[in-house]
Amino acid sequence: MFLSSSLLIFSLSTAASLVAADSSAFQADSSIDADRLYGYVKAAAYSREDVLATYPTCNDCDSASDVDISGKLKQIPGFEDSLMFMADMDVDCDGVAWQCPGNMDGQPETSFGHMNASQAPWYVIPEDFISKGDVQANALGAVICGDKMFYGIFADSNGDSPQVIGEASLVLAQACFPDDGMSGANGHPVPDVAYIVFPHDAPQGVGDETLDYSALKQLGDQKLKDLVNALDTYDPLQPSGGTFSDQEFPDPEQSATTENPLPDPTTMSGGDWGAVGPELPPTQVPGEPVPTWPWPSSTCKAHRRARRSTVM
Ligand SMILES: *[C@@H]1O[C@H](CO)[C@@H](O)[C@H](O)[C@H]1NC(C)=O
Repeated sequence: MFLSSSLLIFSLSTAASLVAADSSAFQADSSIDADRLYGYVKAAAYSREDVLATYPTCNDCDSASDVDISGKLKQIPGFEDSLMFMADMDVDCDGVAWQCPGNMDGQPETSFGHMNASQAPWYVIPEDFISKGDVQANALGAVICGDKMFYGIFADSNGDSPQVIGEASLVLAQACFPDDGMSGANGHPVPDVAYIVFPHDAPQGVGDETLDYSALKQLGDQKLKDLVNALDTYDPLQPSGGTFSDQEFPDPEQSATTENPLPDPTTMSGGDWGAVGPELPPTQVPGEPVPTWPWPSSTCKAHRRARRSTVM
């Protein structure tokens, strides 16, 4: 369905009154340097390092707005299997609360149960990446949106054609963008959300419909504290977050000592990871001004939640 801009504005203003659950239950401890993590994910996406797969962020996007899943954390001991991507945030209302406002095509199940999108924070990954990325059911993820970081689990997959990336349960989307009227028909279209996925770490206490917030937060805080410490130890030259300026980019001369400082087009599409999509518009060329992030997403016409397939 194509939403005209006047309809979109109307639904923004009416949906804004929906009540969001208490998001502090799954919010990261404020002592964890989310800016540092955000800058790291953004830099990896920007430089297209260790691209594992590439997906569109909406069903009818121009391929210029495709984003990558980066495996750059393989360089960081203890986080070799972890995944990162920058994407938008569509709203997923599958599960027992599938009749959430604006959700025309919801499904009563999620990938591993019947989670409640109004209660359980989760993120979605494209279905064909589950086996390629070896992502376990309910795997921990951290989502950095605005200046906040939240935890969620991998509870649903996207089986659209084409499969799209950048989607979260209603409660997580409302936590990220509390003033933007998130609903089944209204997501966050800008690909400025950082997602970090820990494919082999799932919190205890995930049931068919519910999860244990304190177990999720405990595991999340532990993992993300460890990750910040590991980055400080093993990648001290990385940008420290904040705005995405020239200054924060790794100096090509300094990073010459690190493995693969810039993506090598000849190695990016190797292995079983499948084809790398068309080039993103801003390719970093040393000496040239760094284009602004995020790159334009104006080609995305609609940001509706997408149907997961029934596989799994
Ligand atoms: C889902 O969670 C919301 C918020 O807690 C609650 O109001 C609603 O009744 C739940 N839906 C189902 C079907 O359990």
